[in-house]
Amino acid sequence: MQKLVIKGGAPLYGELVNQTAKNAALPIIAACMLTEDPIVIKDCPHLKDIDAMLNIMRHLGCSAYFDGDDLNVCCRDVTLNVINADLTGKLRSSIFILGSILSRCRSAYISHPGGCEIGLRPIDLHIFGLKALSVKIEDDGGVICCDGSKMKSAVVNLDFASVGATENLMMAGALLDGETVIVNAAREPEIVDLAQFINAMGGRVRGAGESIIRINGVKKLHGCTYRPIPDRISAGTYLAAVALCGGDALIKNVVPEHVFGITERLKKSGARLTVKNGAARIASDGRPRAVHKLETNVYPAFPTDMQPQFCALLSCAQGSSVIVENLFENRFGYTGELVKMGAKITVKDRIAVVTGVDGLHGATVKACDLRGGAALVIAGLKADGVTDVIDVEHIDRGYQNIEQAFRLLGGNVERVNR
Ligand code: EPZ
Repeated sequence: MQKLVIKGGAPLYGELVNQTAKNAALPIIAACMLTEDPIVIKDCPHLKDIDAMLNIMRHLGCSAYFDGDDLNVCCRDVTLNVINADLTGKLRSSIFILGSILSRCRSAYISHPGGCEIGLRPIDLHIFGLKALSVKIEDDGGVICCDGSKMKSAVVNLDFASVGATENLMMAGALLDGETVIVNAAREPEIVDLAQFINAMGGRVRGAGESIIRINGVKKLHGCTYRPIPDRISAGTYLAAVALCGGDALIKNVVPEHVFGITERLKKSGARLTVKNGAARIASDGRPRAVHKLETNVYPAFPTDMQPQFCALLSCAQGSSVIVENLFENRFGYTGELVKMGAKITVKDRIAVVTGVDGLHGATVKACDLRGGAALVIAGLKADGVTDVIDVEHIDRGYQNIEQAFRLLGGNVERVNR
């Protein structure tokens, strides 16, 4: 077990190169199964979630190895189509691999991924969508048995614009005769990136980024070399840290329109921000202003994956703010840890009321999930004194070497074995 020891209270100055997007790389790795040819994923981030995904791919018979930051994946020999509980338990979002296994093997057996710290994470939309493609599915609550021997293209109407379900259906339709249409598709940048990856393999996906995606199946897909998009959430996390602590920093490797929902709120909280030429420059006096109400929602609204980090920012704002979490039913677990540092936050169901305080003080706090853990790190950078963030493994799921990133911004952060 490891912890981060953070000596806070100082503004942040410096620059860093932002990582490639975890939530783009994960479905792209799954989509490698759509071809027998080798694939190179450039600048793939070194993350625990990526490692968990690669273990699932290797379990199925694929080869996968890093050559520096480039990830080489080859699914020439897919020898298995069964994903058991210990694999799905380590990566609940792995459910979207169903679509690529069904495209390749036409049958699949996957254990229920189960819930996680931020919510139940149901998969009813995934099941509904695959059934609409005539996949026969039996689900005894433990193992989901999928028979895709008679699967065929269709129009699929999603009740909710689920990111994972959209990804599953894009991969399920990529090699299906005819046109699969996803109505009410997720519009996140990671969806567009997956479509561009499938098209780079010779696929025919149109409309990604809009609410209607059309996938015209092809007979075969070929290998390619592909660089996924930058991570809009890790970029937002570093920007929120500077907005909270004060300072002046340059975050390189950022796509402006992908972070627009984040940077506009940071500006409203008083930070001075410009995003151009693939980089975001932020300056702040470290005294953020409250935002009357902040609601999370699907892209391009304010992203749920930035909610905890923004709550840490607002905990030291002048005035009170209300945060409404519309995506996940249990995503305020981290607030109790911020209160240990002096924050004033009350939570009821999906609403948090944050009363800004003049400052925070160091404490020993526990990361309970990926983004909640990141929120504790930026709060520690703000706090006077020393903050120990334990269970840093949660944070390593989605941030590549977070202590190194903040040291590049002048933060005093050390990783220590407990
Ligand atoms: C993706 O999760 C991301 N993960 C999440 O990031 C992100 O928070 C989420 O999209 C929303 O943007 C990856 O891309 C690996 P959803 P996903 O399906 O696909 C409900 C992080 O921190 N739902 O859009 O699971 C669900 O309960 C992670 O990097 C159903 O009801 O998100 C939730 O309320 C956390 N039935 C909402 O939809 C379903 O079948 C959003 O889920 C599927 C989802």
